[in-house]
Amino acid sequence: MTDKLIIFDTTLRDGEQSPGASMTRDEKLRIARQLERLRVDVIEAGFAASSNGDFEAVKTIADAIKDSTICSLSRANDRDISRAAEALKGANSGRIHTFIATSPLHMEKKLRMTPDQVFEQAKQSVRFARNLVGDVEFSPEDGYRSDMDFLCRVLEAVIAEGAGTINVPDTVGYAVPELYGEFIRTLRERIPNSDKAIWSVHCHNDLGMAVANSLAGVKIGGARQVECTINGLGERAGNCSLEEVVMAVKTRRDYFGLEVGIDTSHIVSASRMVSQTTGFVVQPNKAVVGANAFAHASGIHQDGVLKARDTYEIMRAEDVGWTTNKIVLGKLSGRNAFKQRLQDLGVTLDSETEINNAFAKFKELADRKSEIFDEDILALVSDESVTSEKEQYGFVSMSQRSETGERPHASVVFTISGKEVRSQSDGNGPVDASLKAIESQVKSGAEMVLYSVNAISGSTESQGEVTVRLQNSGRVVNGVGSDPDIVVASAKAYLSALNKLQSKADRVAAQG
Ligand code: KIV
Ligand code: ZN
Repeated sequence: MTDKLIIFDTTLRDGEQSPGASMTRDEKLRIARQLERLRVDVIEAGFAASSNGDFEAVKTIADAIKDSTICSLSRANDRDISRAAEALKGANSGRIHTFIATSPLHMEKKLRMTPDQVFEQAKQSVRFARNLVGDVEFSPEDGYRSDMDFLCRVLEAVIAEGAGTINVPDTVGYAVPELYGEFIRTLRERIPNSDKAIWSVHCHNDLGMAVANSLAGVKIGGARQVECTINGLGERAGNCSLEEVVMAVKTRRDYFGLEVGIDTSHIVSASRMVSQTTGFVVQPNKAVVGANAFAHASGIHQDGVLKARDTYEIMRAEDVGWTTNKIVLGKLSGRNAFKQRLQDLGVTLDSETEINNAFAKFKELADRKSEIFDEDILALVSDESVTSEKEQYGFVSMSQRSETGERPHASVVFTISGKEVRSQSDGNGPVDASLKAIESQVKSGAEMVLYSVNAISGSTESQGEVTVRLQNSGRVVNGVGSDPDIVVASAKAYLSALNKLQSKADRVAAQG
Protein backbone atom coordinates (compact mmCIF):
# COMPACT_ATOMS: atom_id res chain seq x y z
CA MET A 1 0.00 0.00 0.00
CA THR A 2 1.39 3.48 -0.81
CA ASP A 3 0.27 6.75 0.70
CA LYS A 4 1.37 10.34 0.72
CA LEU A 5 3.99 11.99 2.89
CA ILE A 6 3.17 15.66 3.44
CA ILE A 7 6.20 17.97 3.17
CA PHE A 8 5.89 20.93 5.54
CA ASP A 9 8.68 23.44 4.95
CA THR A 10 9.63 25.74 7.80
CA THR A 11 12.68 27.46 6.27
CA LEU A 12 10.91 30.81 6.58
CA ARG A 13 9.99 30.30 10.25
CA ASP A 14 12.15 27.83 12.17
CA GLY A 15 14.99 28.18 9.64
CA GLU A 16 14.87 31.93 9.89
CA GLN A 17 15.10 31.72 13.70
CA SER A 18 18.74 30.76 13.24
CA PRO A 19 20.87 33.72 14.43
CA GLY A 20 21.96 35.61 11.35
CA ALA A 21 19.44 34.00 8.99
CA SER A 22 16.78 36.68 9.24
CA MET A 23 15.27 37.67 5.90
CA THR A 24 13.41 40.65 4.53
CA ARG A 25 9.82 40.36 3.35
CA ASP A 26 10.91 40.38 -0.30
CA GLU A 27 13.52 37.69 0.30
CA LYS A 28 10.92 35.55 2.05
CA LEU A 29 8.50 35.99 -0.83
CA ARG A 30 11.16 34.97 -3.34
CA ILE A 31 11.92 31.83 -1.35
CA ALA A 32 8.20 31.09 -0.89
CA ARG A 33 7.80 31.22 -4.68
CA GLN A 34 10.62 28.73 -5.02
CA LEU A 35 8.99 26.47 -2.42
CA GLU A 36 5.72 26.62 -4.36
CA ARG A 37 7.66 25.66 -7.50
CA LEU A 38 9.09 22.72 -5.56
CA ARG A 39 5.45 21.81 -4.81
CA VAL A 40 5.92 21.87 -1.06
CA ASP A 41 2.57 20.96 0.53
CA VAL A 42 2.71 23.41 3.44
CA ILE A 43 4.87 26.53 3.75
CA GLU A 44 5.28 27.86 7.28
CA ALA A 45 5.76 31.49 6.28
CA GLY A 46 6.54 32.96 9.69
CA PHE A 47 5.21 33.81 13.10
CA ALA A 48 2.73 36.60 12.42
CA ALA A 49 2.45 37.91 15.99
CA SER A 50 6.21 38.20 16.51
CA SER A 51 6.63 41.53 14.71
CA ASN A 52 4.96 43.77 12.16
CA GLY A 53 7.60 42.65 9.67
CA ASP A 54 6.74 38.98 10.17
CA PHE A 55 3.01 39.75 9.96
CA GLU A 56 3.57 41.51 6.62
CA ALA A 57 5.73 38.65 5.35
CA VAL A 58 3.10 36.01 6.21
CA LYS A 59 0.35 38.17 4.70
CA THR A 60 2.31 38.87 1.50
CA ILE A 61 3.05 35.17 1.06
CA ALA A 62 -0.55 34.15 1.86
CA ASP A 63 -1.80 36.64 -0.76
CA ALA A 64 0.70 35.59 -3.44
CA ILE A 65 1.13 31.83 -3.16
CA LYS A 66 -1.79 29.77 -4.32
CA ASP A 67 -0.59 26.18 -4.77
CA SER A 68 0.73 25.46 -1.26
CA THR A 69 -1.02 25.73 2.09
CA ILE A 70 0.34 28.77 3.95
CA CYS A 71 0.85 28.43 7.67
CA SER A 72 1.63 30.84 10.49
CA LEU A 73 3.08 29.81 13.82
CA SER A 74 1.31 31.16 16.88
CA ARG A 75 1.77 30.79 20.62
CA ALA A 76 -1.24 29.34 22.39
CA ASN A 77 -3.02 32.59 23.18
CA ASP A 78 -5.93 34.46 21.61
CA ARG A 79 -3.91 37.50 20.52
CA ASP A 80 -1.28 35.48 18.63
CA ILE A 81 -3.91 33.26 17.07
CA SER A 82 -6.05 36.21 15.91
CA ARG A 83 -2.98 37.86 14.40
CA ALA A 84 -2.11 34.65 12.52
CA ALA A 85 -5.69 34.35 11.22
CA GLU A 86 -5.62 37.97 10.10
CA ALA A 87 -2.34 37.48 8.19
CA LEU A 88 -3.70 34.34 6.51
CA LYS A 89 -6.98 35.90 5.32
CA GLY A 90 -5.89 36.06 1.67
CA ALA A 91 -4.66 32.45 1.51
CA ASN A 92 -6.32 29.88 -0.73
CA SER A 93 -5.57 27.39 1.99
CA GLY A 94 -4.37 28.69 5.38
CA ARG A 95 -3.25 26.89 8.52
CA ILE A 96 -2.67 28.08 12.07
CA HIS A 97 0.07 26.20 13.90
CA THR A 98 -0.27 26.77 17.61
CA PHE A 99 2.06 25.45 20.28
CA ILE A 100 2.72 25.32 23.99
CA ALA A 101 5.47 23.52 25.89
CA THR A 102 4.53 20.29 27.65
CA SER A 103 7.79 18.98 29.13
CA PRO A 104 8.15 19.25 32.93
CA LEU A 105 11.27 21.39 32.48
CA HIS A 106 9.67 23.89 30.11
CA MET A 107 6.37 24.09 32.03
CA GLU A 108 8.06 24.69 35.35
CA LYS A 109 11.07 26.82 34.42
CA LYS A 110 9.98 28.65 31.27
CA LEU A 111 6.21 28.96 31.40
CA ARG A 112 5.87 28.77 35.21
CA MET A 113 2.59 26.99 34.69
CA THR A 114 1.16 23.81 36.17
CA PRO A 115 0.37 20.87 33.87
CA ASP A 116 -3.36 21.51 34.39
CA GLN A 117 -2.98 25.12 33.27
CA VAL A 118 -1.04 24.03 30.17
CA PHE A 119 -3.72 21.42 29.43
CA GLU A 120 -6.49 24.03 29.62
CA GLN A 121 -4.59 26.58 27.55
CA ALA A 122 -3.79 24.04 24.82
CA LYS A 123 -7.45 23.01 24.57
CA GLN A 124 -8.79 26.55 24.65
CA SER A 125 -6.30 27.75 21.99
CA VAL A 126 -7.16 25.01 19.54
CA ARG A 127 -10.85 25.72 20.08
CA PHE A 128 -10.27 29.43 19.48
CA ALA A 129 -8.16 28.77 16.36
CA ARG A 130 -10.72 26.34 14.93
CA ASN A 131 -13.34 29.08 15.11
CA LEU A 132 -11.14 31.19 12.84
CA VAL A 133 -9.74 28.65 10.34
CA GLY A 134 -10.56 25.11 9.31
CA ASP A 135 -6.98 23.84 9.38
CA VAL A 136 -5.24 23.84 12.77
CA GLU A 137 -1.99 22.16 13.74
CA PHE A 138 -0.96 21.71 17.36
CA SER A 139 2.59 21.18 18.69
CA PRO A 140 3.51 20.26 22.25
CA GLU A 141 6.86 22.04 22.38
CA ASP A 142 9.67 19.86 23.76
CA GLY A 143 7.16 17.06 23.18
CA TYR A 144 9.79 14.33 23.06
CA ARG A 145 10.93 15.12 26.63
CA SER A 146 7.36 15.25 27.94
CA ASP A 147 5.70 12.75 30.22
CA MET A 148 3.87 10.19 28.06
CA ASP A 149 0.66 10.10 30.17
CA PHE A 150 0.40 13.88 30.24
CA LEU A 151 1.14 14.17 26.53
CA CYS A 152 -1.57 11.61 25.70
CA ARG A 153 -4.05 13.61 27.80
CA VAL A 154 -3.20 16.93 26.06
CA LEU A 155 -3.14 15.50 22.54
CA GLU A 156 -6.41 13.61 22.94
CA ALA A 157 -8.04 16.86 24.11
CA VAL A 158 -6.71 19.02 21.27
CA ILE A 159 -7.73 16.44 18.65
CA ALA A 160 -11.23 16.49 20.18
CA GLU A 161 -11.17 20.29 19.79
CA GLY A 162 -10.44 19.90 16.07
CA ALA A 163 -6.65 19.95 15.61
CA GLY A 164 -6.21 18.14 12.28
CA THR A 165 -2.42 17.78 12.53
CA ILE A 166 -0.46 16.80 15.62
CA ASN A 167 3.21 17.61 15.41
CA VAL A 168 5.63 16.06 17.91
CA PRO A 169 8.76 18.21 18.19
CA ASP A 170 12.11 16.99 19.34
CA THR A 171 12.83 20.62 20.15
CA VAL A 172 16.33 20.12 21.52
CA GLY A 173 17.49 17.33 19.19
CA TYR A 174 17.74 14.74 22.00
CA ALA A 175 16.01 11.81 20.31
CA VAL A 176 17.54 8.76 18.66
CA PRO A 177 15.78 7.18 15.67
CA GLU A 178 14.32 3.97 17.09
CA LEU A 179 13.12 5.60 20.31
CA TYR A 180 11.60 8.59 18.53
CA GLY A 181 9.78 6.28 16.09
CA GLU A 182 8.45 4.22 18.99
CA PHE A 183 7.44 7.38 20.85
CA ILE A 184 5.19 8.43 17.96
CA ARG A 185 3.84 4.90 17.59
CA THR A 186 2.98 4.74 21.31
CA LEU A 187 1.16 8.07 21.14
CA ARG A 188 -0.86 6.90 18.17
CA GLU A 189 -1.68 3.58 19.84
CA ARG A 190 -2.64 5.04 23.20
CA ILE A 191 -4.67 8.06 22.15
CA PRO A 192 -8.22 6.88 21.39
CA ASN A 193 -8.96 9.54 18.72
CA SER A 194 -5.45 9.51 17.16
CA ASP A 195 -6.86 8.42 13.80
CA LYS A 196 -8.66 11.79 13.51
CA ALA A 197 -5.35 13.61 13.03
CA ILE A 198 -2.35 13.47 10.73
CA TRP A 199 0.82 12.88 12.75
CA SER A 200 3.84 15.00 12.06
CA VAL A 201 7.53 14.91 12.99
CA HIS A 202 9.69 17.94 13.74
CA CYS A 203 13.30 17.14 14.61
CA HIS A 204 16.27 19.33 15.41
CA ASN A 205 19.77 18.28 14.48
CA ASP A 206 21.80 18.76 17.67
CA LEU A 207 23.14 15.20 17.53
CA GLY A 208 23.17 15.06 13.73
CA MET A 209 20.12 12.77 13.67
CA ALA A 210 17.28 15.06 12.56
CA VAL A 211 16.78 13.31 9.22
CA ALA A 212 17.19 9.82 10.67
CA ASN A 213 14.79 10.62 13.53
CA SER A 214 12.20 12.08 11.15
CA LEU A 215 12.39 9.03 8.89
CA ALA A 216 12.01 6.73 11.92
CA GLY A 217 8.98 8.77 12.98
CA VAL A 218 7.54 8.05 9.55
CA LYS A 219 8.52 4.39 9.24
CA ILE A 220 8.11 3.17 12.82
CA GLY A 221 5.69 5.76 14.14
CA GLY A 222 3.40 6.11 11.12
CA ALA A 223 3.79 9.91 10.85
CA ARG A 224 2.61 11.28 7.51
CA GLN A 225 3.99 14.83 7.68
CA VAL A 226 7.65 15.83 7.96
CA GLU A 227 8.65 19.34 9.02
CA CYS A 228 11.91 20.35 7.43
CA THR A 229 13.97 23.19 5.98
CA ILE A 230 16.05 23.77 2.86
CA ASN A 231 19.72 22.96 3.59
CA GLY A 232 18.62 21.95 7.11
CA LEU A 233 18.68 25.63 8.06
CA GLY A 234 17.66 26.31 11.63
CA GLU A 235 18.62 27.25 15.16
CA ARG A 236 21.80 25.74 16.60
CA ALA A 237 22.62 22.67 14.46
CA GLY A 238 19.51 23.20 12.35
CA ASN A 239 16.38 21.28 11.40
CA CYS A 240 15.72 18.17 9.37
CA SER A 241 16.86 18.85 5.82
CA LEU A 242 14.11 18.82 3.17
CA GLU A 243 16.33 17.65 0.33
CA GLU A 244 17.67 14.69 2.30
CA VAL A 245 14.31 13.50 3.57
CA VAL A 246 12.67 13.87 0.16
CA MET A 247 15.45 12.07 -1.70
CA ALA A 248 15.60 9.32 0.93
CA VAL A 249 11.89 8.61 0.57
CA LYS A 250 12.06 8.79 -3.24
CA THR A 251 15.26 6.78 -3.64
CA ARG A 252 14.18 4.14 -1.11
CA ARG A 253 10.56 3.93 -2.18
CA ASP A 254 11.01 0.16 -1.95
CA TYR A 255 11.41 0.57 1.83
CA PHE A 256 9.21 3.55 2.73
CA GLY A 257 6.41 2.86 0.25
CA LEU A 258 5.39 6.53 0.27
CA GLU A 259 4.69 9.20 -2.34
CA VAL A 260 6.02 12.75 -2.06
CA GLY A 261 4.66 15.49 -4.29
CA ILE A 262 7.95 17.43 -4.54
CA ASP A 263 9.31 18.42 -7.96
CA THR A 264 12.90 17.51 -7.14
CA SER A 265 14.33 19.25 -10.20
CA HIS A 266 14.08 22.55 -8.27
CA ILE A 267 16.00 21.35 -5.21
CA VAL A 268 19.45 22.70 -6.12
CA SER A 269 18.15 26.14 -7.08
CA ALA A 270 16.17 26.29 -3.82
CA SER A 271 19.30 25.37 -1.91
CA ARG A 272 21.32 28.07 -3.68
CA MET A 273 18.66 30.68 -3.13
CA VAL A 274 18.47 29.98 0.62
CA SER A 275 22.24 29.91 0.93
CA GLN A 276 22.69 33.15 -1.02
CA THR A 277 19.95 34.90 0.91
CA THR A 278 21.09 33.91 4.38
CA GLY A 279 24.83 33.68 3.82
CA PHE A 280 24.81 30.15 5.28
CA VAL A 281 27.21 28.38 2.95
CA VAL A 282 26.43 24.76 2.03
CA GLN A 283 29.30 22.43 2.95
CA PRO A 284 30.77 20.73 -0.16
CA ASN A 285 30.10 17.22 1.13
CA LYS A 286 26.48 17.94 2.12
CA ALA A 287 24.18 15.21 0.82
CA VAL A 288 22.20 16.05 -2.35
CA VAL A 289 23.04 19.77 -2.57
CA GLY A 290 26.76 19.95 -1.67
CA ALA A 291 29.13 20.80 -4.53
CA ASN A 292 30.76 17.35 -4.22
CA ALA A 293 27.54 15.37 -3.77
CA PHE A 294 27.85 13.93 -7.29
CA ALA A 295 31.58 14.43 -7.93
CA HIS A 296 33.69 11.33 -8.34
CA ALA A 297 37.34 12.06 -7.68
CA SER A 298 38.84 8.61 -7.37
CA GLY A 299 39.91 6.91 -10.59
CA ILE A 300 38.14 3.68 -9.71
CA HIS A 301 34.84 5.49 -9.13
CA GLN A 302 35.18 7.58 -12.29
CA ASP A 303 35.87 4.47 -14.31
CA GLY A 304 32.84 2.72 -12.79
CA VAL A 305 30.49 5.64 -13.37
CA LEU A 306 31.61 5.96 -16.99
CA LYS A 307 30.89 2.28 -17.60
CA ALA A 308 27.58 2.21 -15.75
CA ARG A 309 26.39 5.17 -13.78
CA ASP A 310 24.64 3.14 -11.08
CA THR A 311 27.90 1.48 -10.00
CA TYR A 312 28.47 4.45 -7.69
CA GLU A 313 25.41 6.68 -8.05
CA ILE A 314 22.07 6.03 -6.37
CA MET A 315 20.43 9.25 -7.61
CA ARG A 316 20.79 11.20 -10.84
CA ALA A 317 22.31 14.65 -10.42
CA GLU A 318 19.90 16.13 -12.94
CA ASP A 319 16.91 14.80 -10.99
CA VAL A 320 17.70 17.24 -8.18
CA GLY A 321 18.51 20.09 -10.53
CA TRP A 322 22.27 19.93 -11.03
CA THR A 323 23.22 21.25 -14.44
CA THR A 324 26.73 21.15 -15.81
CA ASN A 325 28.15 24.68 -15.96
CA LYS A 326 26.60 25.73 -19.25
CA ILE A 327 27.25 29.02 -20.94
CA VAL A 328 23.68 30.20 -21.16
CA LEU A 329 23.89 33.80 -22.23
CA GLY A 330 26.45 36.31 -23.43
CA LYS A 331 27.03 39.94 -24.27
CA LEU A 332 24.80 39.86 -27.34
CA SER A 333 21.82 38.20 -25.68
CA GLY A 334 18.73 40.37 -25.74
CA ARG A 335 16.10 41.18 -23.14
CA ASN A 336 13.76 38.43 -24.39
CA ALA A 337 16.42 35.74 -24.13
CA PHE A 338 17.24 36.98 -20.65
CA LYS A 339 13.57 36.99 -19.62
CA GLN A 340 13.14 33.47 -21.01
CA ARG A 341 16.18 32.23 -19.05
CA LEU A 342 14.74 33.72 -15.86
CA GLN A 343 11.52 31.85 -16.52
CA ASP A 344 13.38 28.58 -17.19
CA LEU A 345 15.22 29.02 -13.90
CA GLY A 346 11.90 29.52 -12.15
CA VAL A 347 12.65 33.13 -11.20
CA THR A 348 9.63 35.41 -11.08
CA LEU A 349 10.25 39.13 -10.94
CA ASP A 350 7.25 41.15 -9.90
CA SER A 351 7.29 44.00 -12.39
CA GLU A 352 8.73 45.20 -15.68
CA THR A 353 10.87 47.61 -13.62
CA GLU A 354 12.45 44.68 -11.82
CA ILE A 355 13.08 42.87 -15.11
CA ASN A 356 14.65 46.05 -16.51
CA ASN A 357 16.85 46.46 -13.41
CA ALA A 358 17.96 42.84 -13.65
CA PHE A 359 18.60 43.13 -17.40
CA ALA A 360 20.71 46.27 -16.89
CA LYS A 361 22.77 44.41 -14.30
CA PHE A 362 23.10 41.47 -16.66
CA LYS A 363 24.42 43.73 -19.43
CA GLU A 364 26.90 45.32 -17.03
CA LEU A 365 28.12 41.88 -16.03
CA ALA A 366 28.26 40.59 -19.63
CA ASP A 367 30.56 43.49 -20.50
CA ARG A 368 33.05 42.26 -17.93
CA LYS A 369 32.56 38.51 -18.00
CA SER A 370 32.27 36.78 -21.37
CA GLU A 371 30.53 33.63 -20.14
CA ILE A 372 27.38 33.97 -18.10
CA PHE A 373 26.18 30.84 -16.29
CA ASP A 374 22.87 30.09 -14.60
CA GLU A 375 24.62 30.62 -11.27
CA ASP A 376 25.51 34.18 -12.32
CA ILE A 377 21.92 34.92 -13.23
CA LEU A 378 20.65 33.58 -9.92
CA ALA A 379 23.20 35.70 -8.03
CA LEU A 380 22.24 38.72 -10.04
CA VAL A 381 18.54 38.50 -9.22
CA SER A 382 19.24 37.82 -5.55
CA ASP A 383 20.88 41.27 -5.38
CA GLU A 384 18.18 43.32 -3.69
CA SER A 385 18.95 46.42 -5.74
CA VAL A 386 17.09 44.57 -8.51
CA THR A 387 13.88 44.29 -6.52
CA SER A 388 13.81 47.25 -4.16
CA GLU A 389 13.56 50.72 -5.53
CA LYS A 390 14.33 52.89 -2.53
CA GLU A 391 17.61 51.85 -1.00
CA GLN A 392 19.33 54.08 1.48
CA TYR A 393 22.81 53.08 0.27
CA GLY A 394 23.87 52.11 -3.24
CA PHE A 395 27.23 51.19 -4.76
CA VAL A 396 28.57 53.41 -7.58
CA SER A 397 32.28 52.73 -8.14
CA MET A 398 35.56 52.23 -6.38
CA SER A 399 39.31 52.09 -6.79
CA GLN A 400 41.85 50.49 -4.53
CA ARG A 401 45.61 50.20 -4.37
CA SER A 402 47.50 47.32 -2.87
CA GLU A 403 51.18 46.59 -3.26
CA THR A 404 53.52 44.31 -1.33
CA GLY A 405 55.10 46.27 1.50
CA GLU A 406 52.58 49.16 1.28
CA ARG A 407 49.46 49.69 3.34
CA PRO A 408 46.39 49.08 1.08
CA HIS A 409 44.15 52.04 0.36
CA ALA A 410 40.61 52.26 -1.07
CA SER A 411 38.35 55.00 -2.34
CA VAL A 412 34.64 54.19 -2.65
CA VAL A 413 31.86 56.18 -4.30
CA PHE A 414 28.38 55.30 -3.12
CA THR A 415 24.98 56.94 -2.68
CA ILE A 416 23.27 57.89 0.55
CA SER A 417 19.57 58.57 -0.13
CA GLY A 418 20.38 59.15 -3.79
CA LYS A 419 23.25 61.59 -3.14
CA GLU A 420 26.77 60.55 -4.20
CA VAL A 421 29.54 60.57 -1.61
CA ARG A 422 33.20 59.58 -1.88
CA SER A 423 35.08 58.11 1.02
CA GLN A 424 38.62 56.81 1.50
CA SER A 425 40.50 54.72 3.99
CA ASP A 426 43.55 52.54 4.61
CA GLY A 427 43.16 49.01 5.85
CA ASN A 428 44.89 45.69 6.49
CA GLY A 429 43.93 44.58 3.00
CA PRO A 430 41.92 46.04 0.10
CA VAL A 431 38.62 44.62 1.40
CA ASP A 432 39.26 45.97 4.88
CA ALA A 433 40.19 49.38 3.44
CA SER A 434 37.00 49.51 1.31
CA LEU A 435 34.65 48.61 4.13
CA LYS A 436 36.39 51.03 6.47
CA ALA A 437 35.99 53.75 3.84
CA ILE A 438 32.21 53.15 3.74
CA GLU A 439 31.92 52.89 7.50
CA SER A 440 33.83 56.14 8.03
CA GLN A 441 30.96 57.95 6.25
CA VAL A 442 27.99 55.92 7.44
CA LYS A 443 29.11 55.50 11.08
CA SER A 444 26.69 52.62 11.68
CA GLY A 445 28.74 51.34 14.62
CA ALA A 446 27.74 47.81 13.56
CA GLU A 447 29.97 44.88 14.45
CA MET A 448 30.91 42.51 11.64
CA VAL A 449 30.21 38.95 12.79
CA LEU A 450 30.77 37.14 9.50
CA TYR A 451 32.59 37.77 6.25
CA SER A 452 32.67 35.03 3.65
CA VAL A 453 33.63 34.76 -0.03
CA ASN A 454 32.45 32.08 -2.38
CA ALA A 455 33.19 31.54 -6.09
CA ILE A 456 29.79 31.34 -7.78
CA SER A 457 30.73 28.97 -10.58
CA GLY A 458 33.90 27.45 -9.28
CA SER A 459 36.88 29.03 -11.11
CA THR A 460 38.90 32.25 -10.81
CA GLU A 461 36.97 33.57 -13.80
CA SER A 462 33.74 33.30 -11.89
CA GLN A 463 32.03 35.99 -9.86
CA GLY A 464 32.84 36.23 -6.20
CA GLU A 465 29.86 36.18 -3.91
CA VAL A 466 30.44 37.85 -0.58
CA THR A 467 28.28 37.67 2.53
CA VAL A 468 28.68 40.20 5.30
CA ARG A 469 26.79 39.72 8.56
CA LEU A 470 26.42 42.79 10.77
CA GLN A 471 25.17 43.05 14.31
CA ASN A 472 23.89 46.23 15.86
CA SER A 473 21.82 46.75 19.03
CA GLY A 474 20.85 43.07 19.14
CA ARG A 475 19.84 42.92 15.47
CA VAL A 476 21.69 40.66 13.05
CA VAL A 477 21.43 41.12 9.28
CA ASN A 478 23.08 39.60 6.21
CA GLY A 479 24.17 41.48 3.13
CA VAL A 480 25.14 39.65 -0.04
CA GLY A 481 27.02 41.14 -3.00
CA SER A 482 28.40 39.59 -6.16
CA ASP A 483 30.89 40.83 -8.72
CA PRO A 484 33.83 39.43 -10.71
CA ASP A 485 35.99 41.66 -8.47
CA ILE A 486 35.72 40.41 -4.89
CA VAL A 487 36.65 43.80 -3.41
CA VAL A 488 33.67 45.34 -5.24
CA ALA A 489 31.50 42.36 -4.19
CA SER A 490 32.55 43.05 -0.59
CA ALA A 491 31.62 46.73 -0.78
CA LYS A 492 28.23 45.81 -2.30
CA ALA A 493 27.63 43.21 0.42
CA TYR A 494 28.49 45.74 3.13
CA LEU A 495 26.12 48.34 1.68
CA SER A 496 23.38 45.71 1.33
CA ALA A 497 23.77 44.79 5.02
CA LEU A 498 23.64 48.47 5.99
CA ASN A 499 20.40 48.82 4.01
CA LYS A 500 18.87 46.00 6.01
CA LEU A 501 19.94 47.53 9.30
CA GLN A 502 17.71 50.47 8.34
CA SER A 503 14.50 48.50 8.94
CA LYS A 504 14.11 48.49 12.69
CA ALA A 505 11.42 45.83 13.30
CA ASP A 506 11.67 44.04 16.65
CA ARG A 507 10.45 40.53 16.97
CA VAL A 508 9.37 38.10 19.65
CA ALA A 509 11.25 34.80 19.75
CA ALA A 510 9.06 31.73 19.07
CA GLN A 511 10.52 29.66 21.86
CA GLY A 512 10.99 32.57 24.23
O1 KIV B 1 11.20 22.98 17.79
C1 KIV B 1 10.07 23.29 18.19
O2 KIV B 1 9.59 22.84 19.24
C2 KIV B 1 9.30 24.21 17.38
C3 KIV B 1 7.86 24.37 17.73
C4 KIV B 1 7.50 25.80 17.88
C5 KIV B 1 7.01 23.64 16.75
O3 KIV B 1 9.80 24.76 16.42
ZN1 ZN C 1 11.69 23.74 15.84
